Amino acid sequence: MVDLNNKVAIVTGSSSGIGKEIATKLAQRGARVVINSSKSESAGQEASKSIPNSKYFKADISNESDCRALIDFTVSEFGSLDILINNAGITRLIAHNDIGSADVSVWKEIFDVNVFGTWQMCSLAYKHLEETGDGNIINVSSIASLRPTGSSIPYATSKAAVNHMTKLLAKTLGPNIRVNAVAPGLIETPWTQDWEIAHQIVAGQAPLKRSGKPEDVACVVMGLIDSKYVTGEVILADGGWSLNS
Ligand SMILES: NC(=O)c1ccc[n+]([C@@H]2O[C@H](COP(=O)([O-])OP(=O)(O)OC[C@H]3O[C@@H](n4cnc5c(N)ncnc54)[C@H](OP(=O)(O)O)[C@@H]3O)[C@@H](O)[C@H]2O)c1
Repeated sequence: MVDLNNKVAIVTGSSSGIGKEIATKLAQRGARVVINSSKSESAGQEASKSIPNSKYFKADISNESDCRALIDFTVSEFGSLDILINNAGITRLIAHNDIGSADVSVWKEIFDVNVFGTWQMCSLAYKHLEETGDGNIINVSSIASLRPTGSSIPYATSKAAVNHMTKLLAKTLGPNIRVNAVAPGLIETPWTQDWEIAHQIVAGQAPLKRSGKPEDVACVVMGLIDSKYVTGEVILADGGWSLNS
């Protein structure tokens, strides 16, 4: 396993759900972690209190100066940046056949965070990651990027863009930075807490007979950090759901 003692990580969107669990696992392995969210400041501060060696920084990744401030804060507080987890994301629930509701304003809103926000974080952080000689970027994508499914067409398309960004950056930023992505299936987080029917469908169809937990995704992230010969990959973590759906 890679020694994460004194490594420094940013996890965007880590006041709850998948991001909070990734931050927790990084800290358990000895990393110093910056917790982030754009609105839920008290939840972010609470998360930081419960995660050792972490600090909270409020920043909206769709805003370039916020991204810059988040990275500057991390480097000034902890001295370097080794790991960037681009987890923050948003969606809108729009049935795929309701074409009229997915107007361009929705596309822009989702792409601002999921695509442009992820790009801004990568492009502003890569010099710091490169300096460490062993940098890691891991993007949190979605099953919707790989299969014709997901909460809306703009969301699914945004995550497909994240996958391609992952591969192109991996090709460009090696050998000093590895870039990978994890594509979760349906995961039990605040995001999906009202999606009872979807959880029932996954429990019925997936070979593993349940929705995922944040820990299931965080384990893949930790595995990618430890897999020093893997770059440019998108790892699906869906309990096998896509085999039967
Ligand atoms: N849950 C699932 O089934 C599932 C499946 C596939 C993929 N994913 C992906 O997993 C990631 C995390 O989702 P989750 O389920 O853990 O959701 P969650 O519990 O709702 O967490 C989302 C986090 O992102 C933050 N965030 C949202 N917009 C942000 C912005 N502009 N800048 C900074 N932070 C922002 C939220 O805080 P604020 O709102 O306060 O900013 C929150 O901390 C997302 O990228 C999502 O697309 C989730």
